[in-house]
Amino acid sequence: MPSTYIPGRSAEDVARAYGINLDQVIKLGSNENALGPSPRAVEAIKRHLSEISVYPSLGYGDLKDALARYVGCAAERIIVGNGSDDLLNTLLRYLLVPDDQAVIPVPTYSYYEVIVEAGHGTCVYVDRAADFSVDVDAIIGALTDRTKLIFLCAPNNPTGNAIEKAALKRLLRSTEALVVLDEAYAEFASESHIDLVNHFDNLMVSRTFSKAFGLAGLRLGYAVLNEELAHSYDRLMLAFSVNQLAVKGGIAALSDRAFLERTVSMVELGRQYIREKLPLKTYPSEANFVFVDAAPYNSRELLEYLLRKGIIIRNCDTFRGCSNSHLRITVGQPWQNTALIDAINEFVTST
Ligand SMILES: Cc1ncc(COP(=O)(O)O)c(C=O)c1O
Repeated sequence: MPSTYIPGRSAEDVARAYGINLDQVIKLGSNENALGPSPRAVEAIKRHLSEISVYPSLGYGDLKDALARYVGCAAERIIVGNGSDDLLNTLLRYLLVPDDQAVIPVPTYSYYEVIVEAGHGTCVYVDRAADFSVDVDAIIGALTDRTKLIFLCAPNNPTGNAIEKAALKRLLRSTEALVVLDEAYAEFASESHIDLVNHFDNLMVSRTFSKAFGLAGLRLGYAVLNEELAHSYDRLMLAFSVNQLAVKGGIAALSDRAFLERTVSMVELGRQYIREKLPLKTYPSEANFVFVDAAPYNSRELLEYLLRKGIIIRNCDTFRGCSNSHLRITVGQPWQNTALIDAINEFVTST
């Protein structure tokens, strides 16, 4: 059976299925920004709305320049896509030839295996340690002369933990395979490793506007990598796959430092609150979600209980390497976090 990517449920779907008003649904299942979009991005999109009659400027120079300033590297090393999933899908399918191997430490974001299989490659799964940290020795032990890619996600979806710079450097030095580091949640973490792209040609770091910038529906992602691969990608990418409003919204969002700070501070306080109040085992998180082991409860039973109250969280039994008691909860606004904790307390006392 080919792997399939299973996204979190939408608010519309849950409202319809459970007969709840759409505006009463609390969506904490897809790691979006509970504050909504960056207001500057919204303003810029409105201002440039009439430009949808023209094609975007091919090459995306203005967007790449703004990203280069944001991440601190040369614009020539930056590529953009219609979300980071699109970008990885385009580049990695081009790189993979049949029988290539990709090492994937699990549990992690399940889209990587979908890309590898679609490119007729083979996934080699390596377990993370008991605390979900990346086991660099296990990855090195899994490398063969057919290893083309190594996927790392930090902070990791769904477990929320980061990777240490020293461990990443050790891995980068021990292989020529391309290490794809997914930093979709970098803004919420204590450190990023994007600077290492300037020192290691076998490192690619992907990022997204879908999380901290609140632009998941706009579809905009980027990556930083060596210039040669960046060049290949620009030749390969579907012309105009990033639309004009995403360009304008993305540039404006990068300049909206006040919104970014508000978002990060809401997330830091919220994840601390959730970890303190939840009557279940939680794990430390450097992302905008908290990973939970609901044992002795079954995650789907708890999920169903919450859905009937209009609260969406994510069961993790569909992630390779997770159990049927694992859950992922996106940090919401304070009132949403409180409603969630109250509902889970009710579940625990009634079960
Ligand atoms: C680790 C990770 N990478 C990438 C994505 C998707 O990013 P985008 O919306 O830019 O395609 C997600 C979304 O949940 C994610 O969790």
